Amino acid sequence: MDILKGLPETTILWDPSDLEPYLRDESHLRGVLPLAVVKPRGPAALRELVRRAKLEGFGLVPRGAGTGKAGGCLPTERTVVVDLSVWPGEPRVSPQDLSLWAPASAPLREVKALAAAQGFFYPPDPNSWESCALGGTLATNAGGPNACKYGMTRHWVLSVDALLEDGDIHTFGISSVKANAGPAMGQLFIGSEGIFGLILGATLRLTPAPREYTTLLLPVKHWEDLLDLPGRLCAEGYLPSAFEFFDPAVLAELRAHGPEEARRLPGEALAILEFDERGCTSEVFLEGLLDLLGPVAEGLQVASDERQRQGIWAVRRMTSVFLKEHHPRKVSEDIVVPRSRLREFFAGVESRRIPAVTYGHLGDGNLHVNLLAAGETDPAQLEVQLLGLFKLALELGGTLSGEHGIGLAKRDAFLALGDPAHIQALRAIKRALDPQNIFNPGKVI
Ligand code: LAC
Ligand code: ZN
Repeated sequence: MDILKGLPETTILWDPSDLEPYLRDESHLRGVLPLAVVKPRGPAALRELVRRAKLEGFGLVPRGAGTGKAGGCLPTERTVVVDLSVWPGEPRVSPQDLSLWAPASAPLREVKALAAAQGFFYPPDPNSWESCALGGTLATNAGGPNACKYGMTRHWVLSVDALLEDGDIHTFGISSVKANAGPAMGQLFIGSEGIFGLILGATLRLTPAPREYTTLLLPVKHWEDLLDLPGRLCAEGYLPSAFEFFDPAVLAELRAHGPEEARRLPGEALAILEFDERGCTSEVFLEGLLDLLGPVAEGLQVASDERQRQGIWAVRRMTSVFLKEHHPRKVSEDIVVPRSRLREFFAGVESRRIPAVTYGHLGDGNLHVNLLAAGETDPAQLEVQLLGLFKLALELGGTLSGEHGIGLAKRDAFLALGDPAHIQALRAIKRALDPQNIFNPGKVI
């Protein structure tokens, strides 16, 4: 491949069989064959790659572990995939600064473990946390159950190291929660899906690790009773670190075909709640909580040890993979509505006849709405269903993606339904930072 010949500090793949795995992520999409895949091992590689991308007119598509759910890392026409899995750097904790620096290549699992080993907590916990790379979580602003209390990845980023179109790596931000010398440039890269530049590392914010957990399995007799609960708990001063749920249809699927633990799950619908603040295992805390949950519960279970806690979480963590195995052509969305509008949302899904089953992060209104029959649905009809879903979320003051991002999967809908001023502003920033459109072309905007 002439255009990449002699690239320093880089492994290059161009055999079609080596490129094949790069055509997929965890969305339902497939990319086009890239010109090549490069694995840079140092700044000289990136400097030269950017120079040639501008000279030869090809795009650079960043890729971490390929666990994204919106197609953000899939190659588009005339692109080179930049696989950051061997990008160097040793993660390190600064206990005094309550911070941790890590390269984009660091597995999120290792970042979280390194923090935990020193008594700290790095909260972002997307479902892929055991297999994803930190860089991917930064580029997509990953969420997860803990976002209910702790917010998303962007709330835990102090500074960002990013490759810009000048070919150099620049650091935006400092290792402190206080930094106010102008707008927060680093934040622009978090959730940008690589369209402004490539994230190569970041300094993350840590917090002392929780010392106790209360984890509850909350089966309900009437599933709609769950819908007011997140808002009511918050209004009463109970902020769960996670509030997950399965609607009756997802619960029935899990019970009928899921693993052994799932077959015993009770209730018409089911929620998993977790609290992690100091005192959350005390009697007074639990009594107050049970006063609120008791009236809707049907046989509430409180995990009595870590093994039970992990057992409860294991079922939740496998839900996405389980549904995919049973419905390989399903389409899964991740809309958000404010938790005060959850009841209206589900009424809207019913009245608009959107054939959806739902599970996910009820506590923050981020719902994984699954169209299980998408593969067998006429594409035009499927599009109507999806647009109906997105419009409903938007009408209720929500958004069409809570945590997975736009990528390729939701680009058309984002451009069609998004606020034109927002899209225009994003395009202006894109033009300013990447005038030749080399960074992840064809994504998001
Ligand atoms: C989950 C993924 C789909 O929460 O975001 O299971
Ligand atoms: Zn999720």
